[in-house]
Amino acid sequence: MNILGIETSCDETGVAVYDPDRGLRAEALFSQIEIHEPFGGVVPELASRDHAARLAPMIRDVLAEAALDVTDLDAIAYTGGPGLIGALMVGGSLAASMGLALGIPALPVHHMEAHLLAAMLEDEPPEFPFLALLVSGGHSQLVHARGHGDYATLGATLDDAAGEAFDKVARLLALPYPGGPALAALAQSGDPAAFDLPRPLKNKGLDLSFSGLKTAVRLLVEKHSNGGNGLAEALRADVAASFQAAVVDTLANKCQLAIEATGLEGLVIAGGVGANRSLRDRLKALAREHGFRVYYPRPSLCTDNGAMIAYAGWRRLAEAAPGIPQIVARPRWPLDDLKPVAAEV
Ligand code: KG4
Ligand code: ZN
Repeated sequence: MNILGIETSCDETGVAVYDPDRGLRAEALFSQIEIHEPFGGVVPELASRDHAARLAPMIRDVLAEAALDVTDLDAIAYTGGPGLIGALMVGGSLAASMGLALGIPALPVHHMEAHLLAAMLEDEPPEFPFLALLVSGGHSQLVHARGHGDYATLGATLDDAAGEAFDKVARLLALPYPGGPALAALAQSGDPAAFDLPRPLKNKGLDLSFSGLKTAVRLLVEKHSNGGNGLAEALRADVAASFQAAVVDTLANKCQLAIEATGLEGLVIAGGVGANRSLRDRLKALAREHGFRVYYPRPSLCTDNGAMIAYAGWRRLAEAAPGIPQIVARPRWPLDDLKPVAAEV
């Protein structure tokens, strides 16, 4: 069986073909970083236009790489939300059109469920129930995944998402967009103990907050700025390392509290910030210390990609509505609204 996965919820066009028996057959990803970089953030209209220009040729290339004809496809899974409405519409429209033309299902997939299931594409997949830490550019939440499609959010950010905080602090440090990877790279040469930054809501429940931390960094940068010339190079690295340490500490604290509260034995990390090396190392150490297991998708499956969409779509294939495919595009779509899967495939 060949499932085509299409991801267009934000600034990455992702396409992949997944075969439940043979695994990932082919994949392609195009990041729109250069398009949005001059604006310091994603410009929704530009994102939609670029998805529209690239998606069909990328699908053709991925099918060619998998040595498949379009008629070999059995189903199409696309991101139905949450995300940017225009960007979602591009993927949904093409997926539904192909489904209609080929007479196969076109299924809308919940983007965060796909992130949460991405670890299932690895050789040693987690088993339900588990705790999931979803940390991306738009979301930061701790989820009790009781079963497939049966999710309860235990805590979430009250303001900025973790990735958003990385991106905003990176901007304060004059780093390129998106800030996460650039800030993590700069932090490597800095001292994480150089500045004592806040650990927001530490030991206070399972919600998260990053806007106060971001403000603390802004005040620090202003204080140490050399006139209008910004921070000295060594200080920039120290600020980056201290900020990263504060985020990693905060996330590790929340994971520990959630593991203690639920008694769960597995922690799954998902979303773009899950690619952060320092976070990965810290959670691995925490898991060893507290006797639980931590699962990471490889970094390319942490950030947005078509493979996780194809996989999540396959798991819900039995729910595909018969008849003409509908175009689903839901900018807001709480994870907890999902229904448990009708039937395990
Ligand atoms: O999951 P994702 O690719 O897209 C969303 O659904 O949001 O996450 C993107 C976010 C961005 O904020 C980016 O700066 C952050 O993930 N990110 C990182 C790293 N790689 C990506 N943050 C920290 N360290 C990284 N290595
Ligand atoms: Zn994402």
